[in-house]
Amino acid sequence: MLKKLLTIFILFLALVMVVLFISNPLTSTGSSDTLQFFGRFHPVVLHLPIGFFIVLGVLEVLSFFPGLSKLRASTPIVLTLCIIGTLVAVTTGIILAYGSGSNEPLVVYHMRVSLLLGIFSLGLGLFKMYGNHLLSKFAYRVALILTFGLLFVASHNGGSITHGEDYLTKYMPNSLRPIFGLEVEKEIVVASASDLVLYRDVVHHIFEQNCNTCHNPNKKKGELNMETYEGLLKGGDTGYSIAQGDSDDSELYFRITLPHDDDDFMPTDGKPPLSDTEVALIGWWIDQGADPELTVAQHGEIPAPLQDYIEELFNSMVSEEELEAREALRQELYASLASLHEKLGIVITPSAPNATEFKIETFAVQKDFNDQFLEQLSPFADKIVEADFSNTQLTDQSVETLTQFKNLRSLNLSKTRIQGQDLGKLSQLSNLESLNLYGTELTADRLDELTQLTQLKNLYLYQTELYEADTIDQLKQALPDCNVAFN
Ligand code: HEC
Repeated sequence: MLKKLLTIFILFLALVMVVLFISNPLTSTGSSDTLQFFGRFHPVVLHLPIGFFIVLGVLEVLSFFPGLSKLRASTPIVLTLCIIGTLVAVTTGIILAYGSGSNEPLVVYHMRVSLLLGIFSLGLGLFKMYGNHLLSKFAYRVALILTFGLLFVASHNGGSITHGEDYLTKYMPNSLRPIFGLEVEKEIVVASASDLVLYRDVVHHIFEQNCNTCHNPNKKKGELNMETYEGLLKGGDTGYSIAQGDSDDSELYFRITLPHDDDDFMPTDGKPPLSDTEVALIGWWIDQGADPELTVAQHGEIPAPLQDYIEELFNSMVSEEELEAREALRQELYASLASLHEKLGIVITPSAPNATEFKIETFAVQKDFNDQFLEQLSPFADKIVEADFSNTQLTDQSVETLTQFKNLRSLNLSKTRIQGQDLGKLSQLSNLESLNLYGTELTADRLDELTQLTQLKNLYLYQTELYEADTIDQLKQALPDCNVAFN
């Protein structure tokens, strides 16, 4: 009689779960504080069934061994605890999501997997109760294995909801990442704080630490995804979150500068507020145009407290030994560039104090600086971001050498002997923004070479054969993003 009643009760509970699974009761409107109060026990109680299931699994496996078969007698009790624990965890979980108005896809998925887990654990109970039949013994074992699968998925999802999806894998060593099909994390290879990209390495870093648990592609609170730059620009419910160049018009800046007890203040939920320096840095970055790619050095004069913050952050990113190793490399590089300077008479200056990117000028040696001279710079080619070879003896032969200067942003070839027959090859220099060909012997038939340089922002052609209305028009059409014909 009792067995029958219990069976009916279990089937009834399973039915409720099936209904919840199909109907999905979660909505986006948070409903009640009292519900949330109970719901918040979810993160605590969910560990109970995980623990009980592990004990159950261990008992079941051990009881296979001849001397240990007596252990089987304790499995019904442990299984009962598993079922009760699961029911409590699932109930508090649903109450939590319902009460706080979370119905993001990941939350719904987590709920459904957990409901399935609940249904399976009830099934396990039934199979155990009717365990004398061979069939239910078999069903019990299969269901137990599937239950462990569900348990794993449910706990992993749950972890992803609270800590972000990459919580487990974030610090996985690069040597293991390919095994799990993960991208190898780019290490920060810059040698000094001035080489950090202000958005990617600093501003975004602050967001990751303080905001992205609530503002990521899976959990877009206020419809705002802060994980990508595009997400920031797109903004959320109220529209764009940053206005490039104007922090006062930026919802994001507004939210972090409100009084800390304001309902709209970010981060919410009693999370620690950003420090004054972090707030100032974000505001400053927005006011400077909120560029996603410029390095610290390229931003020019950064207010001292912000610069200090960036230095500190950089130091925390790399270990003491790495820092020393990098400093040694930098010293070595400086020394070899200094000897190059003595040998060739060219002026090489770091793009910012202590930076490992350089500007190069040849005005002191214009008459001697020829194609062979340039080749001697090859070992440092990728360190040079600005090069002024104006008035030197460089010819078209040098264009090939110049393609090694992968990080070049600005190249001045004015009044050299370049005639332009290979200039199209410079299209390989993806960072090249400015090319000065003023006063060269470039002829009108080189147009085809120049039209390949679609990465350019500025192209100077004054006093060349190309500098005439017709060709300039053609160039402007082929290079719509480029200012052509400036002096
Ligand atoms: C604990 C979760 C949580 C954290 C952490 C959090 N937010 Fe929010 N955020 C929310 C919620 C919920 C909303 C939607 C309600 C609202 O607009 O106030 C929101 C909305 C916003 C909005 C408005 C979006 C729009 O267009 O309406 C901005 C901007 C914002 N957050 C920025 C931030 C920043 C910056 C941080 C980090 C310093 C941060 N949030 C951290 C939960 C969070």
